[in-house]
Amino acid sequence: MHRTFHVLLAVLASLAAISADTHTVFEASSPLQVDFDAAYLWTRGYMEGTQYELIGANNASVSQSHFLASADTYLIVHGFLSHAIVPWVLTLKDKILARGNSNVIAVQWASGDNFTELAYNETSDTVPGIGAAVSRLLTTLQAVRGLDYTRLHAIGLNLGAHIAGFAAKNSPYPFGRITGLDPASKRYLHTSSKERLDKSDALYVDIMHTNSCNNWNKWYDCFGIYMSIGHTDFWPNGGFFQPVCSKTESHHAGDGSLRCDHTIVTEYFIESFDYDITSTKFLARPAKNYHAYCFDPVIHCGPLPQYMGILADSGSSGDYYLNTTSVAPYAIEDKSCPSRERHAEVAAAAIVAIIITVLILVVAISAFVCIKVKGIFKRKAEGADMTDPLLGDAPQDRVVDGQEEGRSSSILGGVARSFAGIVSRPVDV
Ligand SMILES: *[C@@H]1O[C@H](CO)[C@@H](O)[C@H](O)[C@H]1NC(C)=O
Ligand SMILES: *[C@@H]1O[C@H](CO)[C@@H](O)[C@H](O)[C@H]1NC(C)=O
Ligand SMILES: *[C@@H]1O[C@H](CO)[C@@H](O)[C@H](O)[C@H]1NC(C)=O
Ligand SMILES: *[C@@H]1O[C@H](CO)[C@@H](O)[C@H](O)[C@H]1NC(C)=O
Repeated sequence: MHRTFHVLLAVLASLAAISADTHTVFEASSPLQVDFDAAYLWTRGYMEGTQYELIGANNASVSQSHFLASADTYLIVHGFLSHAIVPWVLTLKDKILARGNSNVIAVQWASGDNFTELAYNETSDTVPGIGAAVSRLLTTLQAVRGLDYTRLHAIGLNLGAHIAGFAAKNSPYPFGRITGLDPASKRYLHTSSKERLDKSDALYVDIMHTNSCNNWNKWYDCFGIYMSIGHTDFWPNGGFFQPVCSKTESHHAGDGSLRCDHTIVTEYFIESFDYDITSTKFLARPAKNYHAYCFDPVIHCGPLPQYMGILADSGSSGDYYLNTTSVAPYAIEDKSCPSRERHAEVAAAAIVAIIITVLILVVAISAFVCIKVKGIFKRKAEGADMTDPLLGDAPQDRVVDGQEEGRSSSILGGVARSFAGIVSRPVDV
């Protein structure tokens, strides 16, 4: 299967090379039904309507493409029974390009044509090979156009999440980030990190779980992996069932479409682009499990505010929980925890307060020490005077002086006197 993908990519790429002077821009409306494998590239200059550019894993195709060497690259990988040119991919592409000019590459792969367990099994067999083919495209982009792997963010849904993982495993450098949108379970559950998407595949791996459970008997349910496989794993509403779905479909949706609980993850991810760190929408809290998140009387906001979706970052790792609404928009403000911006302000204020306190303490201690040191030297001089038989009684004015010092430092003064007495004893002999 991956060989087919590779060959088709090569064929497409040669076509791209032949018509390179016209930049090989296709309208997505007509080839929506394309049944071959391809990679689609968008940048801000190539995103009007449904325009895209086809690229393949060969030098000619890649060198003539509109790939931007000095920009971030997003790689979107669809899941089972799907296609690269589907609404969620196109919407996500627009959200990404609205944030900044970047390369958005959507991978088209043969993801099965029948909603059966057998088709699912056969399709998942091809996942490592597709991942390897995608890595060849990336290697070519790196060699010919200077793709920066640290600025590569792969986003994969269901089987596509594992394809992203295998693309990374086959690549010479780790990806910057991989976001797993409800990564497929089934055969991937309880497998080793080599056989599925894993946190070792990128510098940062964030996972959103929306239909994760473990039940092969209901093969049309539990599409998401019930395992923490990223640096940060988000479990909205507990990660099993989503409130919007229980309203719109029965629990057992064996009707030929993937479950709402599973595919809704793309809507959550897309909606996350509408928020920033000044709000607490999609803010998630660390917890041992969903029950603890719901019922622990103590609210734990975590060391650093962490958001589900595009704002997720490597600052906080572990399992994070949040609730959503049952109608779009799904995000809820978390009024009990600070936004990332608020947290940063509080942290900055705390640092300023610490610096001021330290400065005040330093000044106070220096002043104190100065006075003491002065006192010790005076006492020492005085003590030496008093124990020196040659000098006789200390002059009256010095005693008065010593008493004055003693008001602020009677203990240290006493110590100083004894000290002076000890050091001066040999002189007595
Ligand atoms: C899909 O699966 C059903 C049930 O197993 C089978 O009858 C049908 O032929 C399959 N269709 C395709 C296109 O494989
Ligand atoms: C699909 O794969 C699973 C796990 O490998 C296996 O238990 C199941 O029998 C397979 N189903 C079919 C229809 O091949
Ligand atoms: C593709 O380009 C790279 C980098 O410019 C070069 O090292 C490689 O040999 C080229 N491959 C082919 C098949 O021309
Ligand atoms: C999340 O939703 C559950 C179920 O509706 C509820 O019991 C829980 O209190 C909510 N938790 C928070 C923190 O809002």
